[in-house]
Amino acid sequence: MKILVTGGAGFIGSNFIHYIMKQHPDWQVVNLDKLTYAGNLENLKDLEGQARYQFIKGDITDRIQIGSILSQGIDVVINFAAESHVDRSILDASPFIDTNIKGTQVLLDGIRQNKIEKYIQVSTDEVYGSLEKGKATETSNLLPNSPYAASKTSADLLCRAYWKTYGLPVMITRCSNNYGPYQFPEKLIPLVISNALEGKDIPVYGDGLNVREWIHVKDHCRALEAVVLKGLPGEIYNVGSNIEKNNLELVKFILKTLGKPESLIKYVTDRPGHDRRYALDAAKIKNELGWEPLMSFEEGMTATIKWYIDNKAWWQRIKSGEYAGYYERMYAGR
Ligand code: NAD
Ligand code: DAU
Repeated sequence: MKILVTGGAGFIGSNFIHYIMKQHPDWQVVNLDKLTYAGNLENLKDLEGQARYQFIKGDITDRIQIGSILSQGIDVVINFAAESHVDRSILDASPFIDTNIKGTQVLLDGIRQNKIEKYIQVSTDEVYGSLEKGKATETSNLLPNSPYAASKTSADLLCRAYWKTYGLPVMITRCSNNYGPYQFPEKLIPLVISNALEGKDIPVYGDGLNVREWIHVKDHCRALEAVVLKGLPGEIYNVGSNIEKNNLELVKFILKTLGKPESLIKYVTDRPGHDRRYALDAAKIKNELGWEPLMSFEEGMTATIKWYIDNKAWWQRIKSGEYAGYYERMYAGR
């Protein structure tokens, strides 16, 4: 099997490539990534030079490049490539529209013109919007609230339309909040761990009581593998852990594990349109594809905190580069 992974130099994509290279010694992986601020080849440096792995610097909005790669015998495409950070989408939605919507359209058009067995769109629970109670199933209303979520929802609808209109073998996965190694330190968990290790303030938005459903990235990768192997065209699969935590609980857990004081917590102006709670009903993927998460919150978080302690150089390089001062710039605009 030859699989094209788009956005493979980011957080989840690089974890997926590591997972697949280990689990499937007979698979070939082509990783196409634009290397935006979030793409980092350091995440994959142990794979450099392996015959089964190829990196191509490229852009999913580039029709000619995508058409040429897809004509070279790709069996499965899995699209991770995206602008992924909600706060950035609030500052400027344009790159989100370009990559998340137009990029998905270019990939779908490429699939139409070539013989590809499966296309998997890696989507998000944010498409369902904020749920005060209950859990979203795959047929729940789509009510995105941020420009990021709206762009991902638009891409999902394009995927559905290409399946229905042209019969493309498209599958959509909608996962909850991931955590684990190689997550860019603008996202809550790596931001809290790295700031705490540096003795810096921990910015908590609003009252800190927003709830997210946290899943270890390896469990997400296992779910995607199940969809590659057993998923059916036109189907949507929620991928969730049932582990709901509010942001304060999470931050306090990390500070306690690191032996750092809660006085580092600083309440800051809330994110505009901040979704209160996400929660998924993931019964379908369990019943139909036999997947369920294996990692407990304590096990996953302890391993993750250890990874950021052991890999300080990885996040320090990012934080001292062009990303430095990002928060100051962001809050200046609020
Ligand atoms: P990330 O920001 O860490 O990585 C995104 C990657 O896409 C980067 O390597 C970047 O260089 C690449 N990229 C961006 N624009 C591109 C383009 N035009 N062409 C090619 N490559 C491009 O994101 P992530 O957290 O790893 O998320 C991956 C996917 O999973 C996204 O589609 C996101 O919406 C989805 N998702 C993320 C989470 C989460 O908790 N992080 C949860 C559910 C779904
Ligand atoms: O739910 C899946 C989504 O999870 C993915 O689709 C997105 O790509 C991913 O970025 C993530 O979105 P969130 O907005 O939920 O993640 P983030 O880490 O930005 O924020 C998690 C929560 O923590 C959220 O309620 C906002 C809050 N937060 C975040 C940051 C960065 C803070 O309180 N302080 C912060 O500094």
